[in-house]
Amino acid sequence: MSGQERENFMLSIILNKISLLNQLQDVNTILDATLFEARHLTHADAGSIFLVKKGRLEFCHVQNDTLFGTKGAGAARYRNTSVPISEDSIVGFSALTREVVTIDDAYHISSDVPYKFNESFDERNCYHTTSILAVPLVSLDNRAVVGVMQLINAQDEQGQVIQFSEQSKMWVRVFSNNAAAIIERSMLNHELILRMVKMAELHDPEETGAHVQRVSAYSVEIYKRWAEKRNIPSAEIIKYSDLLSRAALLHDAGKVGIPDAILKKPGPLTDEEFEQIKNHTVSGAALFTNISSELDQMTHDIVLHHHERWNGQGYPGRLVEVGEKSVRKPLAGKEIPFAARIVALADVFDALSSERCYKPPWDNKKIYNEICKDSGVYFDPELVEAFFEITDILHAIQEKFT
Ligand SMILES: [Fe+2]
Ligand SMILES: [Fe+2]
Repeated sequence: MSGQERENFMLSIILNKISLLNQLQDVNTILDATLFEARHLTHADAGSIFLVKKGRLEFCHVQNDTLFGTKGAGAARYRNTSVPISEDSIVGFSALTREVVTIDDAYHISSDVPYKFNESFDERNCYHTTSILAVPLVSLDNRAVVGVMQLINAQDEQGQVIQFSEQSKMWVRVFSNNAAAIIERSMLNHELILRMVKMAELHDPEETGAHVQRVSAYSVEIYKRWAEKRNIPSAEIIKYSDLLSRAALLHDAGKVGIPDAILKKPGPLTDEEFEQIKNHTVSGAALFTNISSELDQMTHDIVLHHHERWNGQGYPGRLVEVGEKSVRKPLAGKEIPFAARIVALADVFDALSSERCYKPPWDNKKIYNEICKDSGVYFDPELVEAFFEITDILHAIQEKFT
């Protein structure tokens, strides 16, 4: 292959990767795909992405084939840490100067540069970082730095760790410039949804931004484990997670319609008041009846059915015509939309593990006993099984979104 042919070939690969990213909307799904594709381009064993939030670089994603395999980094993904945008760290320097930083040996960095390699990840995980390529994620119009992607340990065909090549640097830069625009767009969309949730939050002290972010993250992780156990193709898992992550954020959107006097009532509710609370499912779903996308459909299903129970004793059930009248009949088992079954479990887990005005947070043992007892009664037993396999990830999510 001539030099020009090789260049055209690489450009077509990068365009293909960008078009895959462009089909996604959820910020976390996009970060996962961005890191995976950048590692593929550079043959990197590992990598992480930091995003600029509140003037710092917040750790947002990690992959490491040696430590975690190809199934994702589990609880390590939700590590709650950030670094300043300063010359002291490699990613901080890259964000500050907008320069690509290349390091051939992390443990022998020249004393001419201001940054140092932070050994804590290696020490914690018994990993050995050698080569590093830190690439700033700069918005397409060059206006802002969105974050930094750090690629670790380039490998040759035999799996030996080598330096990042000049070509790798060039191609990953082209890819990152485009990926940054897609990440930035998804961050703006995420913020927009969280702003809508904040309207409900002002109204309902239980529906906080942190609560909905936890429920969304729990839902995606429970789904992923369920899907991986069933060998669902990874493209399908990515697509479903991309929708579920955003739709789950809006599960209680209907609470904006409930009067404050009921939502914030300290004492027990009357039957009539409880009926009004239950109606948040139907009134919320009415916001999504004009279904024009798969996201609308999933959000509608979650909002309407996230209080259904596996045994048919939840609400609001389905609407059926009886003579001239429409009445609600119970919905049970697999009749309940799958996404709503997932969010039902995630939402109850979060309620049990959080402090509420009427109760302190339950300890893990009590929560697990309750969820185990309700498997096949309130919750889909297959989802409860997946839940118990990822409790370390669920608790890492709790720590991250406090
Ligand atoms: Fe609800
Ligand atoms: Fe909720």
